[in-house]
Amino acid sequence: MEPGAFVLAAAFADDPLMTYFWPGPSRRRKALPPFWDSRIASRRKNGLVDLAHDAEGNLACVALWEPAHVVAPTAKPATLLRALGSSAGRALAAGRRMEHARPATPHLYLAAIGTLPGAQGRGLATALLERRLAMAEQDCFLISNTSATVPFYTRFGFESQRELPIGRGPVVYPMIRRK
Ligand SMILES: CC(C)(COP(=O)(O)OP(=O)(O)OC[C@H]1O[C@@H](n2cnc3c(N)ncnc32)[C@H](O)[C@@H]1OP(=O)(O)O)[C@@H](O)C(=O)NCCC(=O)NCCS
Repeated sequence: MEPGAFVLAAAFADDPLMTYFWPGPSRRRKALPPFWDSRIASRRKNGLVDLAHDAEGNLACVALWEPAHVVAPTAKPATLLRALGSSAGRALAAGRRMEHARPATPHLYLAAIGTLPGAQGRGLATALLERRLAMAEQDCFLISNTSATVPFYTRFGFESQRELPIGRGPVVYPMIRRK
């Protein structure tokens, strides 16, 4: 399994969208590492995987990106479907809804970023975002799963777009950063 899968699983342990996919805490805890393993593998195949380490050299922050013209790559589909189990319908519908919210013009998409809870607040996510955004030649787009992180992204020049309700699940927060 990708080491980054454990980082993202811990960062997103109580995330509203993950909780919608797997409401039960014990099932969610088991499902998150293989779920993120598949999501990281997808971006290794067709996308960008950025990693940051803490002062002791341990992997502590992961960012997943899709460059222009790449939409929802898949890898390890069996792992993904096994992790989703009976939640596959709602998760795939949520994924489609979020894909439809993406701009029609070429853009760099921040698919996910997460820092180990114990390593948060030390600038790791900021360093990864600043590095990739400095290289970006197009608009950048993301969908925040929670309103709490919207002010964080605003620091990097992202602007809020219309909120997006996900079925019977949470509202999520599309944001764009124009070049
Ligand atoms: C958002 C996240 C990636 C930031 O990672 P990080 O490595 O801690 O980020 P940095 O240390 O570079 O910056 C942290 C800053 O953002 C602010 N911030 C980040 N998330 C926040 C939140 N949910 N609520 C309030 N402030 C938040 C912190 O207060 C901090 O501000 P400061 O610099 O003034 O102290 C991390 O909090 C995380 O993994 N959250 C869970 C997963 C998640 O929500 N991902 C993004 C939404 S899809």
